Amino acid sequence: MGDDYTSPQDNAILTILRTSEEVNNLKDVDTILDKILFESRSLSNADAGSIFLVDKNSLIFSYVQNDTLFKGESANAALYQNFAIPISEQSIVGYVAKTRQALTIDDAYELDVTLPFSFNKSFDEKSGYRTTSMLTIPLIAQESRLVGVMQLINAKNDMGQSVPFSEEAKTYIPLFCNNASVAIERGIMNRELILRMMQMAELRDPTETGAHVQRVGAFCAEIYGTWASRRKYSAKEIKRGRDNLRLAAMLHDVGKVGISDTILKNRANSTTRSSPPSRCIRSGVRDCSKSDLGTGQDEHGNCPVPP
Ligand SMILES: [Fe+2]
Repeated sequence: MGDDYTSPQDNAILTILRTSEEVNNLKDVDTILDKILFESRSLSNADAGSIFLVDKNSLIFSYVQNDTLFKGESANAALYQNFAIPISEQSIVGYVAKTRQALTIDDAYELDVTLPFSFNKSFDEKSGYRTTSMLTIPLIAQESRLVGVMQLINAKNDMGQSVPFSEEAKTYIPLFCNNASVAIERGIMNRELILRMMQMAELRDPTETGAHVQRVGAFCAEIYGTWASRRKYSAKEIKRGRDNLRLAAMLHDVGKVGISDTILKNRANSTTRSSPPSRCIRSGVRDCSKSDLGTGQDEHGNCPVPP
């Protein structure tokens, strides 16, 4: 009999420890949410999941993964975007945020009528998806701060059928989330720090906005992801690269706080090849017309980085 036997429980705990360490090495909040949701779904064999982040008295829908709906195309992602749910007992995620207790539902369409919350069927009706089992977990960081709620949907058995979440999932996913919540909070603080730095830059050049830097970060991460996957980089390496590049790209204009107005406000010569545009100088790109990222003009008229 060998000494190297590890039980399924030991394996689950080792996976959680290893994954928690990987999450702790990430910096950008979007990458952290992506990783946490992906790993939680893997641990519980869930078909779909989403994460809501707390903003005052609401939960803002922030991240979604759905193997059934998004495998071939992402058109259904639009169904999810831009909504907030009050932290109240009327909704399932609101209830979990308010009570700070994990909640397991075996069939969302068979809820006891005496429960204070109800299942919102509108997404299923719009998308044709059938939600059955749910595992909804509060994301609580240090000092009992609630940072959000994660909801896993439709655990699958070996034949791909929706089944209730297992006892193991109910035990291990909250354990993983305890560590992950601290990483989410750190990612949010990193993002806020960058946006505050950009607010300083906005004082020098009001054409820049927080939305602009978030778009630039997202575009750069996507371009890098496509570039790296074509070159067969490993998924782990791509995630790490995207994480670093997104944050670096969001800082692309922050150097303008130290640039003289005679250069910063000089837009007259900014489109001539003989005189590199001031924005490109600030972006660290010496000549955007020769950039690999593209030759088009952006909202400023000359930056090679997509708006
Ligand atoms: Fe910019």
